[in-house]
Amino acid sequence: MSVTHIGAVGSDLGRIEGPAKVTGEARYAAEQDHLHDVAYVWPVQSRIAKGTVRWIDDDPIRALPQVLAVLTPDNAPRLQPPDDGELAVLQSRTVSYRGQFVAAVVAQTLETAREAAGQLQVDYDSESHDVQLTADHSQLYRPGEPDAGFVSDTDEGDVDAALETAAFSVDHTYETPAQHNNPMEPHATLAVWDGDELTLYDSNQGAYSVQQSLAKLFGLDPAAVHVLNEHVGGGFGSKGTARPNAVLAAMAARVVQRPVKLALHRHHMFAVVGYRTPTIQRIRLGADADGRLSAIAHDVVEQTSTVLEFVEQTAVATRLLYAAPNRRTTHRIARLDVPTPRWMRAPGECPGMYALESAMDELAIECGLDPIEVRIRNEPHCDPETGKPWSSRSLVECLHRGADLFGWAERDPRPATRTEGSWQVGTGVAASTYPAYAAASSATARADADGTYRVRITASDIGTGARTALTQIAAGALHVPTDLVRVDIGDSAFGQATIAGGSMGTASWGWAVTKACVELREEVERRGDIPGDGIEVRAETSAEIKARTGYTFQGFGAQFAEARVNVDTGEVRVPRLLGMFGVGRIINPRTARSQLIGGMTMGLSMALHEEGVLDPAFGDYVNHDLAEYHVATCADVTDIRAQWLDEQDQHVNPMGSKGIGEIGIVGTAAAVANAVHHASGVRIRDLPIRLDKLLGRLPTRIG
Ligand code: MOS
Repeated sequence: MSVTHIGAVGSDLGRIEGPAKVTGEARYAAEQDHLHDVAYVWPVQSRIAKGTVRWIDDDPIRALPQVLAVLTPDNAPRLQPPDDGELAVLQSRTVSYRGQFVAAVVAQTLETAREAAGQLQVDYDSESHDVQLTADHSQLYRPGEPDAGFVSDTDEGDVDAALETAAFSVDHTYETPAQHNNPMEPHATLAVWDGDELTLYDSNQGAYSVQQSLAKLFGLDPAAVHVLNEHVGGGFGSKGTARPNAVLAAMAARVVQRPVKLALHRHHMFAVVGYRTPTIQRIRLGADADGRLSAIAHDVVEQTSTVLEFVEQTAVATRLLYAAPNRRTTHRIARLDVPTPRWMRAPGECPGMYALESAMDELAIECGLDPIEVRIRNEPHCDPETGKPWSSRSLVECLHRGADLFGWAERDPRPATRTEGSWQVGTGVAASTYPAYAAASSATARADADGTYRVRITASDIGTGARTALTQIAAGALHVPTDLVRVDIGDSAFGQATIAGGSMGTASWGWAVTKACVELREEVERRGDIPGDGIEVRAETSAEIKARTGYTFQGFGAQFAEARVNVDTGEVRVPRLLGMFGVGRIINPRTARSQLIGGMTMGLSMALHEEGVLDPAFGDYVNHDLAEYHVATCADVTDIRAQWLDEQDQHVNPMGSKGIGEIGIVGTAAAVANAVHHASGVRIRDLPIRLDKLLGRLPTRIG
């Protein structure tokens, strides 16, 4: 029988590694200091957006004191061709985007490496570049397969006919800018070769995945590559795959035959770790006289680079959020001479739901309905795309409960009717959704004669609290208190496991941990005791994951925002955000709340601040640091609350949990934009909502 213990699943156990982190004892990748003789590599970035490296004047740099090597496309170790062109570091003289690594200097000290890299003379043959995404770009094409295995286009019914006969309709284009991943800990790698064996201390979201990639690149047996990521300071998707820093550090270490460390500078991160593509999204909605949708069309234009076709799945949430007999979604992309866009928290759902949920607000106004009511009227009974039942879906309840807590009932729907001094005040709502993925993983559970347990899994705690949640899950499955269980993560030697991505870490790893721990407990119960040499059980979940069909697994939520717009300056403030989520069983309320609030904060940041500013002549985003690329800070966030329903889901996985890493960012920007409209009467359809976009459109203050 299960017993409730301190730290049990559902209790708010503090982070297990918390003390180590606050005392500085926890070591991140670049902080590994147990090795002697460590050298440093500093990358040299291309100054052109397209062309060829003609000549690198490396002799004077090699002659500098403390410089150990200069890596160039001509002398760098040859790699096996990767699937991800970003990992073909220094494999050719071709320049595909500004900021690409074209050379690197290895030196005895970090300062020397950086200084020497700055002095390295690189000459280019440059060609004219194309970096500007437009809705009618001549090179737009229908891509093979958007991210996460979706199809690019869907088409059901007759959208055009339905739009023509709709009682109410909206047809608007929404734009989001490039947004750049900036986890607190920049990407970093310490690479150590021992003969033909490679050890990487690397900041990533999946040590197993990085192990596999690096083994392939260097032509090694995966067993010869050991990747460690015990502590990781954030990722948001940018550390979801091996990045060029890992490859460059490994190459440099091989060349100089010493351990080599590379910690990316904040500036580097805007080029080589993946960012969110800018999007141009046309949404057309048609509704009948009661506000029931007859047609939904979502057409997305976005960019990728010439080195990798990465297609953000921006329209996928539109496929399942609302019922409508006629539905169409498309993705079109242009391959531009830009850094490669890649994952950034909730790729697809995040920008797509900004557009859809803004358009739903516009439709509600057209129909003269409350924006919550219009959503409730379009609630689908099953997944509109597949016809499958929902394993659970609590959008309507989230809207109701959120509205109660937020105080929605007193809302006067008329825009621009409330002022407090020079501030116009308004509120907005948007829906939120994110898939509840799970992927096959393996785990080992061990019982020792002293009554303690040890679980090993190649999980990554990127700041989410995964280590803590897994300890709770393991203890729950073992029927013992958490202080008897130690969960070791962050080591590729623990075997195959999925990444901390797609909000599926806890579900996927937790499934494998549960299976191993249940089997171990049963084995211990069968034997009646634990022998001196302990008992170990290994489990993996590919069969369970394969059998996971028959339902659509998806988390839902409702986001509420209060916005204040200053009529004199156009400044926007968001004094209040409330998110209500239906995300299955919450393993740990403390870490869950942090995840949800973190996502919402990032959504607020997207709404008001974040924007990669492209200079078409220069061929790159020009704001490459946190002074110029603005993110929300503590001063921007006042009252931000995340709550959840007690949602029971018997089908989703053994824990009944849904991913919570990404859903918090989905819909937040639309809720803010809708609140800005309600406050000011001005609809901003391109993010971020900057004061210059509002100024001139606000009423002149009287008195
Ligand atoms: Mo998240 S963008 O799947 O790491």
